[in-house]
Amino acid sequence: MKIVDTMPDSVRSVVLRVDYNFPLGADGTVADATRVDCTRETINFLLGAKKRVRLLTHWGRPGGQPNKGLSSELLVPHIENVLGRQVAFDPQALSGAYQEPEADFVLCENVRFYEGEESNDPAFVEALAQRGDVFVNDAFPVSHRVHASVVGLKNFLPSYVGYGCCKEWKNVQAVRDNLAHTCVIAGGGKVRTKLPLLCKLLPKVPQVLLGSLLARALQDFLQKKHSDEESQGWAKIVSEHIDKIVMPVDVLTFDGARPWGECPIDDVKDIGPRTLEVYTQEISKAQCVFMNGPVGQYEFSVGSQGTRGIADAIAWRASKCKNFHALFGGGDTVAAVMRHLDLSQQGLWEGELAFSPSGGALLHAMTYGALPGLEGLCI
Ligand code: 3PG
Repeated sequence: MKIVDTMPDSVRSVVLRVDYNFPLGADGTVADATRVDCTRETINFLLGAKKRVRLLTHWGRPGGQPNKGLSSELLVPHIENVLGRQVAFDPQALSGAYQEPEADFVLCENVRFYEGEESNDPAFVEALAQRGDVFVNDAFPVSHRVHASVVGLKNFLPSYVGYGCCKEWKNVQAVRDNLAHTCVIAGGGKVRTKLPLLCKLLPKVPQVLLGSLLARALQDFLQKKHSDEESQGWAKIVSEHIDKIVMPVDVLTFDGARPWGECPIDDVKDIGPRTLEVYTQEISKAQCVFMNGPVGQYEFSVGSQGTRGIADAIAWRASKCKNFHALFGGGDTVAAVMRHLDLSQQGLWEGELAFSPSGGALLHAMTYGALPGLEGLCI
């Protein structure tokens, strides 16, 4: 791996790609800035080594146009709050000539204000590259995008991977190296985003436990006739491995538990207590668990019981099984499980239980075993 601490002493300034794509609350303000935590170690290392650090991030999907509401400047107080140090905002345009700012630690404007970002335009890459002697990628959640500030810079400047990104990559590898003993728990409701992953993993893992909504969505998908080749291919693979898929036997509604097959989909809020028992049994035999997506509608208290029960089952297994590894992936899953489990109180440590806030990038890495933004750095 080309880790950040292997860069030569002669390097003076570093373009550091981070992913501060903070979620917004209902009132339009930043709801959660924990992504800054993932980059703390890299930032501390670089500033401690007296490098000038120029942070690049995207925020939202402004579509290549400036948008005052998504200016990186608005992120500054949140970053300072988490890091406990000051960061200067650099208002300079990212395209065109560059004037070196005085401050050592600087946040640049949202890269997605420029069309060249998403098209990975070589001229835009070159303009960005004026900001450093080297490039460091510490932005795992966006490393599946072939964008200028991710893949373009990596291929243009001498490049390294940051500690946060490296840790996420290792957590993915720990699961991928152990697929024959991995219990996969897939939740959420969007079957199409999960099908590529399921189709890659099903031939390799012993079983996949499905969340309440995903199970119904998968059933619907299999019952439909598909005209496109991709869907036909997915349906064929799933059907071939259908015996590995564990479906709920009951579900929870606002009015209590109901048998799985008898409940209209709109009433389904979570897996039911009998299903949780079955899933707990399966988890109690696993050497490794990969959980992606809550198994119920976590925003309702009745929809959170399944995910919490599963988290407890995984924590119990971790406390009993040597060399156990679990990876919880996706912002919703991580928020749900971390809110519920108290790792230190339960004598667990991060390594047995790992958490990835990444969404699409994690699915991509688990599915394909590679990420465009990390090729040549981690692989
Ligand atoms: C994320 O939050 O998943 C990443 O920042 C990627 O964002 P994107 O889906 O807008 O590319």
